Amino acid sequence: MLRISVLRLLGRPGTSGVSLLEYISSRHYSSGPLGARDDIRGARAFFTTPIFYVNAAPHIGHLYSALLADALCRHRRLRVPSAAATRFSTGTDEHGLKIQQAAAAAGLAPTELCDRVSAQFRQLFREAGISSTDFIRTTETRHRIAVQHFWGLLKARGLLYKGLYEGWYCASEECFLPEAKVTRQSDSSGDSCHVSLESGHPVSWTKEENYIFRLSQFREPLQRWLRGDPQAIAPEPFHRAVLQWLEEELPDLSVSRKSSHLHWGIPVPGDDSQTIYVWLDALVNYLTVIGYPNAEFKSWWPTTSHIIGKDILKFHAIYWPALLLGAGMSPPHRIYVHSHWTVCGQKMSKSLGNVVDPRTCLDRYTVDGFRYFLLRQGVPNWDCDYYDEKVVKLLDSELADALGGLLNRCTAKRINPSGTYPVFCTTCFPSEPGLVGPSVRAQAEDYALVNAVATLPRQVADHYDNFQIYKALEAVSSCVRQTNGFVQRHAPWRLNWESPVDAPWLGTVLHVALECLRVFGTLLQPVTPSLADKLLSRLGVSATERGLGELCFLPRFYGHPCPFEGRRLGPETGLLFPRLDQSRAWLVKAHRT
Ligand code: MSP
Repeated sequence: MLRISVLRLLGRPGTSGVSLLEYISSRHYSSGPLGARDDIRGARAFFTTPIFYVNAAPHIGHLYSALLADALCRHRRLRVPSAAATRFSTGTDEHGLKIQQAAAAAGLAPTELCDRVSAQFRQLFREAGISSTDFIRTTETRHRIAVQHFWGLLKARGLLYKGLYEGWYCASEECFLPEAKVTRQSDSSGDSCHVSLESGHPVSWTKEENYIFRLSQFREPLQRWLRGDPQAIAPEPFHRAVLQWLEEELPDLSVSRKSSHLHWGIPVPGDDSQTIYVWLDALVNYLTVIGYPNAEFKSWWPTTSHIIGKDILKFHAIYWPALLLGAGMSPPHRIYVHSHWTVCGQKMSKSLGNVVDPRTCLDRYTVDGFRYFLLRQGVPNWDCDYYDEKVVKLLDSELADALGGLLNRCTAKRINPSGTYPVFCTTCFPSEPGLVGPSVRAQAEDYALVNAVATLPRQVADHYDNFQIYKALEAVSSCVRQTNGFVQRHAPWRLNWESPVDAPWLGTVLHVALECLRVFGTLLQPVTPSLADKLLSRLGVSATERGLGELCFLPRFYGHPCPFEGRRLGPETGLLFPRLDQSRAWLVKAHRT
């Protein structure tokens, strides 16, 4: 029979703190895309990844979290190019019972384990092109100062009290679990033990005197925040899920542990017998990196977008906003949530031995290839399954064949012997569809292509805003296919540069296709930075012509001059993305073994 977990809060709950919540007024949370908060935020944007536990080496799920944030941040930089306008933080979460136990199991001092694994994350992110502007480790002094300051504020506002807290603690998830989320299981030696229903990790009954945060006071303010800002958490099903959780009782939260039990952490200011709860410690990292408690943080905080996995939604969408409100700050501007990667249908885990090493993947598929795969196939709303053949198939068809093939078709010497961006002929392709005349060659489908590519940057931006990066890539890929169709339809290889009848149309077909490629290259920069650079360089697009502000598609069609017309193409003629299935002996081998 399962024991009923009871939270006995022996401290005397007070009432102070509620007045702080007046901060929440509907005025602060306008729901429109250009609401008051956007005005306050101005050009700045601050993106964060979760900070990663250092109990084990990074896997592809961790890389995915970081890549989503990187792509959002890079896309933002294309919109607002000023280097000072964007900040992007990542780092490692190094305190807590989980790390303390992992270090003990490995026979290492916690600092040794943290140094080793934190360096692996840093190295992986450098190799994967994660363009963060800060890498924080929670063991840094700047962070201890920020956490203790934050604690002091909560204390001063009467939001912490001492009480007896008891329940099932899961070290792996670093949280107490309600009775309903705990089950009994037999371990390998046949003994019965209690485990987390969701993760299967062991839990232990813990009863301690701790500091407790008056979380229960924040239920209504959190509801008001989320109802007043329907875009606060995206995609929408996660927003709805949090509101659903808030329908239930919201018990107060234990925010410290006895130091005799947990020594690896930040001491409670003025009470060395207690260590600050690792989640409170970890969440404050988002403030540390913007200079908290120095006033500088104030201009960045309202611009914050957190990128997180679904497993840590409760911590970011309930505990964190409540702690922030308690400390007199606003909740985060946006919380973008993604789902998980499974491997061949199973959850990735050390015990199953199916953890996919991201560095091997970057080597096999190239940095751009693997970035493209994860972001093109990763769907935030539900879990995605990983297997090697899927990567090869996708990259060969979309990057090597469709995009690389298109570039090759328009720049190869036999088709484009002058090696330039050819001239667009307005009489062959008049801006008004349906015109007839001896030199008009454009057909209805060609106008559909121009329209699709002209609206693509807006569509892509909308998908980024809604945290649907895979849809942005799907839209680009669909336009690449349409452009290949355009080239196929007009078969420039059958037209002759020497013929006065063919030449203007041949130039126009290549011009349109190169303009499409310029748009694709520009829009792919956040996802495949090197490949996009190669593509744009091949087209002769300079570094100052690659922002979204400058992206004016096919200006000649709309009666404007085109700065690229007549320009020499770049000298690099190699393959844009070599096919993988010719060089995948490793894959066949991996299957045989
Ligand atoms: N340390 C906490 C976060 C603290 S943030 C203040 C933590 N760390 S974690 O290393 O376990 O997870 C970091 C991120 O990786 C989370 O966003 C999590 O969802 C993500 N992923 C972990 N496994 C994953 C997959 N299998 N697939 C996709 N993302 C996954 O939680």
